[in-house]
Amino acid sequence: MKKITNGIKKFQHFYPYTVALVGGQSGGQINYMACAWHTAFSFDPPLFGVLISKKRLTHKIISEAREFTVNFISAERVKLSAQMGRKSGHDMDKIKEFEVKLSPSKIIKSPVIEEAYVSFECKLTDIKAYGDHDLFVGEVLVIHEEEKSFDSEGVLNTGKTHPLLYLGSDFYITINPDTLKHVLPD
Ligand SMILES: Cc1cc2nc3c(=O)[nH]c(=O)nc-3n(C[C@H](O)[C@H](O)[C@H](O)COP(=O)(O)O)c2cc1C
Repeated sequence: MKKITNGIKKFQHFYPYTVALVGGQSGGQINYMACAWHTAFSFDPPLFGVLISKKRLTHKIISEAREFTVNFISAERVKLSAQMGRKSGHDMDKIKEFEVKLSPSKIIKSPVIEEAYVSFECKLTDIKAYGDHDLFVGEVLVIHEEEKSFDSEGVLNTGKTHPLLYLGSDFYITINPDTLKHVLPD
């Protein structure tokens, strides 16, 4: 028997999703937040989208800066996700408070997060409202990757890097590399 729900209140049955830290710099202010709602949109040009509530400081920063960085962190950095995802830059300087290490981007002004195993520099191309979140789509101009984390085709090396997955309600997990299979249709 399946439990049937309508009038949905807690909508998170689609997890696990990987966690990225998303943000940027507007004027002198730098801010990032944890973001699980993200997706690629296109290979050519490479387009990547993030969904951000209007309540977030990050929403204001990216709207003003017209650019953002997307920074994927490993399971070992889970605390950083909680810090960036449960505290707001409206109330504190998260970068200073949590001693987040930043590196300069190659093309845009907004820095990337050094602890990330891969980061994207994105130039904002579109903003669209969907319910209580806004979709920010950016063209990926530069990828910064930890060399050991990916093979030559950009496939994640799960033996070396353990991606951080979010399950909702502050639960996190990673994947078991022993389950890896390369499968073709024959
Ligand atoms: C793991 C995780 C994932 C999150 N994903 C999103 C998301 O995709 N979109 C969003 O608007 N907020 C998301 N949040 C909430 C924001 O990260 C959180 O409200 C944060 O404090 C906003 O920071 P800011 O006000 O400094 O931008 C997430 C929180 C966590 C812990």
